[in-house]
Amino acid sequence: MSVAVAAEVTRDYSMSGGVVHALRGVSLAIEPGEYVAIAGPSGSGKSTLLQLLGGIDLPTSGHVEILGTRLDSLGDRALTRLRLLRLGFIFQRFHLLPVLTALENVELPMAEAGVPRDERRERARSLLDYVGLLDRAAHRPVQLSGGEMQRVAIARALANRPALILADEPTGELDAATGAGILALFRRLTADGSTLVVVTHDERLAAEAGRVVHMLDGRVRG
Ligand SMILES: Nc1ncnc2c1ncn2[C@@H]1O[C@H](COP(=O)(O)OP(=O)(O)OP(=O)(O)O)[C@@H](O)[C@H]1O
Ligand SMILES: [Mg+2]
Repeated sequence: MSVAVAAEVTRDYSMSGGVVHALRGVSLAIEPGEYVAIAGPSGSGKSTLLQLLGGIDLPTSGHVEILGTRLDSLGDRALTRLRLLRLGFIFQRFHLLPVLTALENVELPMAEAGVPRDERRERARSLLDYVGLLDRAAHRPVQLSGGEMQRVAIARALANRPALILADEPTGELDAATGAGILALFRRLTADGSTLVVVTHDERLAAEAGRVVHMLDGRVRG
């Protein structure tokens, strides 16, 4: 079974100046263990597609399936639950909660999923160890570098053992050397069996992916 399927998805935004066709009919299947990069010029619909795959947004037409379940068949609660348990999100600007420590940020999705306290603390520590930041467990986001914040965000994305990890420009805010560390971590994630879809302008990242989906003007090119 595919991890994710987009079937002829379109997304229109109605604006005062008229309709923006952000996606004009995209079909895509992501298989278990794949590392897929989504590339293309600014405005081509990459983030929109990622948001549809992650159930953050719903298509105007067409549908998305995660592990065989159509997202448009789910109510709000079930959709939130599916996102929490099956998907991991990584954003360009990290989106860590500033009042929580690194450890607490990683624990949060597990707390929301009802994982008992001791178990989630232990798993959060092992995930921080996995991304090389166990010695930063007590730091708040402002006490971390950009690369460290992104590694905490990656640990958080892994918290509930997602079937699919979705990342939007994960190296976009980082210098080349720091970005290379994040790429190395992604390499390790795929080696360890994770399924990844990464939107990127970063040529090095696209070169490492198993497949590159090129987008242009709301469509998959070629
Ligand atoms: N919430 C929104 N409301 C209206 N239009 C939007 C909205 N989000 C995106 N768009 C439009 O949809 C198109 C695709 O946007 P999208 O963010 O998917 O592009 P992108 O490929 O991710 O670009 P970038 O590389 O700059 O991040 C753009 O023309 C954008 O202006
Ligand atoms: Mg974008």
